[in-house]
Amino acid sequence: MKKSALSIGVIGCGNISGIYCRRIKEFPVLSLAACADLDRAKAEARANEFNIPTVLSPDELLLNPSIDIILNLTTPQAHYTIARRALEAGKHVYNEKPLCVELHEAKTLLKLARKHRRLIACAPDTFLGAGLQTCRKLIDDGVIGTPVAATAFMMCHGHESWHPNPEFYYQHGGGPMLDMGPYYLTALVSLLGPVARVCGSASISFPTRTITSQPKAGTLITVETPTHIQAVLEFASGACATIITSFDVWGARLPFIEIYGSLGTLSCPDPNTFGGPVKLYVPGKYDWAEVPLIHGYAENYRGLGLADLASAIRDKRPARANGDLALHVLEVMHAAINAGRLGKYIKIKSSCARPAPLSLNQNHSL
Ligand SMILES: NC(=O)c1ccc[n+]([C@@H]2O[C@H](COP(=O)([O-])OP(=O)(O)OC[C@H]3O[C@@H](n4cnc5c(N)ncnc54)[C@H](O)[C@@H]3O)[C@@H](O)[C@H]2O)c1
Repeated sequence: MKKSALSIGVIGCGNISGIYCRRIKEFPVLSLAACADLDRAKAEARANEFNIPTVLSPDELLLNPSIDIILNLTTPQAHYTIARRALEAGKHVYNEKPLCVELHEAKTLLKLARKHRRLIACAPDTFLGAGLQTCRKLIDDGVIGTPVAATAFMMCHGHESWHPNPEFYYQHGGGPMLDMGPYYLTALVSLLGPVARVCGSASISFPTRTITSQPKAGTLITVETPTHIQAVLEFASGACATIITSFDVWGARLPFIEIYGSLGTLSCPDPNTFGGPVKLYVPGKYDWAEVPLIHGYAENYRGLGLADLASAIRDKRPARANGDLALHVLEVMHAAINAGRLGKYIKIKSSCARPAPLSLNQNHSL
């Protein structure tokens, strides 16, 4: 085990676990100690691939005294139960997004973390990547003046053409907002601060989906959750944003995220990636100029937020991808989904601090 590294136990050895296992090995603060999955064969496959020393059952892993942080890479519907049991067992927790499905569950997790004096953090960590950290620096340096508005668009036709087990994307707890909204909203909150109120509309354009990926090609999925959600977000700062997340659109040419300031416009990269491009339009100064990325982690560095959590535990400071931020994003997502049905603006009760930016000299030191 690396010196002073925190010991990581992975629960959920599916699709996304590969990149985490690969990157964990690059951070001196992390040591990949054990893995588990309901399907033991999946855990054994990951253990073989990445030389993970121990394969356990999920129960054994949750109770194993040598594990410091549970990395919860299960599907969203299991996030709450695994995280709750991990906190109750005295572990720190890093969940894949969303933090959990229900807002009251998120509140319980944060309370439990406080009670047990443990930290809970949550993906996405893409906002810590080179692209969005460069955007953050440009905004904080006043390059586009005061941000007054933003747009954010995630438009696609869902995941049943490539994901081997796509059912969860169409069940309660899935859908484009809970699935992809965390990338966009976490980026917006990191750039603009917390959201104050939300209105919107949500619909199910296609009541069934047919899986075309293997091994379940031909299987019909009944869609249980809205798959096209558009919302207006009013930030506490006074800035206003429009967001659309959709699994109902075959093609679109809309930007990922744009921030409109009193002096100019910032075009942000895909918030589901760590890199660029970052582009600036400031009349008389920048004509959609591509800005060189000034931070590290421009590649797929899933695990960066986990490394930040481990450093935060060691240094006794808040994690950047912290539970308050994830709970706030979850509340905004639920508001976006529910506002149309309720026919009103929904006031967001939670708030959070903008996570501290990564300093330039912190590159690769986590
Ligand atoms: N696939 C991607 O590209 C991607 C990208 C970013 C984030 N994510 C997020 O990562 C998480 C996992 O997604 P995935 O694509 O890897 O899903 P997946 O279905 O491929 O893998 C999930 C794994 O968790 C296991 N599991 C489920 N419930 C469990 C439980 N109670 N105890 C132990 N194991 C359990 C399953 O057996 C499965 O192996 C989701 O929250 C998803 O939103 C996925």
